[in-house]
Amino acid sequence: MTSRILITGAGRGIGAATALAFAGQGGRLILADLDTPEATAEASRKAGAAEVLPMSCDVSDAAAVAALRDEVQSAWGGLDVLVHCAGIIHEAPLLETPVAEFDRVIAVNLRGSFLVGQAAIGLMTPDAANPPRVILIASDMAYCGRETFSPYVASKHGVLGLVRSWAKEFAPGILVNAICPGPIDTEMLGADNMSAEWRAKELAIPLARFGTPVEIAAVACFLAGDGGRYFTGQGLGPNGGSVMP
Ligand SMILES: NC(=O)c1ccc[n+]([C@@H]2O[C@H](COP(=O)([O-])OP(=O)(O)OC[C@H]3O[C@@H](n4cnc5c(N)ncnc54)[C@H](O)[C@@H]3O)[C@@H](O)[C@H]2O)c1
Repeated sequence: MTSRILITGAGRGIGAATALAFAGQGGRLILADLDTPEATAEASRKAGAAEVLPMSCDVSDAAAVAALRDEVQSAWGGLDVLVHCAGIIHEAPLLETPVAEFDRVIAVNLRGSFLVGQAAIGLMTPDAANPPRVILIASDMAYCGRETFSPYVASKHGVLGLVRSWAKEFAPGILVNAICPGPIDTEMLGADNMSAEWRAKELAIPLARFGTPVEIAAVACFLAGDGGRYFTGQGLGPNGGSVMP
């Protein structure tokens, strides 16, 4: 059966590249983002997806995620793969970080991962012979501290905690892993979110370049495919050598 795949944050960046990568394999895709990701849906159809359902969903909103779950259930009756890419970042010194900003980052990155992961796992049929895959996008910052990014760093440490706990809870029937990218050239790294000074710091890594969304999408396809069968509870690190946990 053609895989049924839910991708969040599909409007741009890593999520959009992931949609196109799975589309190229002929997957059936539900694509979610704050605004319905019509452009990614159209590109995915052209790239060969068997079926594409674009949806609007704020992943931090429990009712919206429940509606997304119900949509998947009524369209397909279940789910084989989740790639949860939706996320936000905020750079500020701690003493200039309002608690509302902390709450916002935790709500989208950590609560959103909990809600979407819980909904997706509830739609999956555990099967040790052909296990469904849950893939959350964490960050290389899940393994280290970073000055001026503490809410984001804390949220991504939390995402790894979810992955490790769910991996144990649902083994061997469902495989749960994280991808922990280093600096990837998307709007998240752009001037609106991160200072030029921090972008320059991000390049001071062994491979001395930003990664591309396509390089992260390839890791998601690997984890969802036959090569990913012996991985669970892991954080895979396409990061240019930024951290070596
Ligand atoms: N770009 C990087 O350097 C980098 C590095 C490590 C990890 N990541 C992680 O990868 C993931 C994707 O990041 P990206 O670089 O593609 O960023 P991006 O900003 O280009 O895309 C993020 C997408 O998430 C969506 N989104 C934001 N809040 C949402 C919400 N509440 N509900 C639904 N969708 C929402 C946005 O609309 C956007 O389409 C994020 O979890 C991010 O933390 C990115």
